[in-house]
Amino acid sequence: SLPAAAAILAAYLIGSLSFAVLVSRSMGLADPRSYGSGNPGATNVLRSGNKKAALMTLLFDAAKGYVPVLLVVLFGARWGLDATVAAFVGLAAFVGHLWPVFFRFQGGKGVATAAGVLLGLNPLLGVATLATWLLVAAFFRYSSLASLAAAAFAPFYQALIWGVDPSLLAVAGMSLLLVWRHEGNIRKLLAGTESRIGHKAAAAK
Ligand code: G3P
Repeated sequence: SLPAAAAILAAYLIGSLSFAVLVSRSMGLADPRSYGSGNPGATNVLRSGNKKAALMTLLFDAAKGYVPVLLVVLFGARWGLDATVAAFVGLAAFVGHLWPVFFRFQGGKGVATAAGVLLGLNPLLGVATLATWLLVAAFFRYSSLASLAAAAFAPFYQALIWGVDPSLLAVAGMSLLLVWRHEGNIRKLLAGTESRIGHKAAAAK
């Protein structure tokens, strides 16, 4: 439908706002694509040593997944938009983060945005997935490993909480894309060279 297409396009454009870059720029910090992992995301902004910038990146990147989904969940019915459309609107915001139209299609890995999408779709799904991230991060101190574990579990939580329906495709699709974007992290984890949470970037990439 036209409203669904418009919502998906709008979510993609909002997702394309790379807040790691925008927040760093607005605070006069180095571009996160120039140090650490080179990834425009909260984990890498934290490697600059600026916790406030990292937190703002996390919150804004999560909000760009959360807000579009929540708007469809709350007000979509009057336009004929159901929960499945909400899930695909979330996927669109996530895709915008990975391939942002405003940043030469070179975006991040989608962790914060996916968290926002899941929270918007279903608070219990979001909280279960966030708890998984926190547990793994607390034990192993690798942001990437925590994200990979959370992404692996999210579709199962969704199926348990919500049952198997078409919105599961959007959630599973986000997880697959997220894991794929962590290919470099997986190599580093296996090689034992992944940087732990809280370690600052030594030099530019
Ligand atoms: O899973 C967190 C992800 O964003 C890892 O980022 O910078 O460690 O590659 P980074």
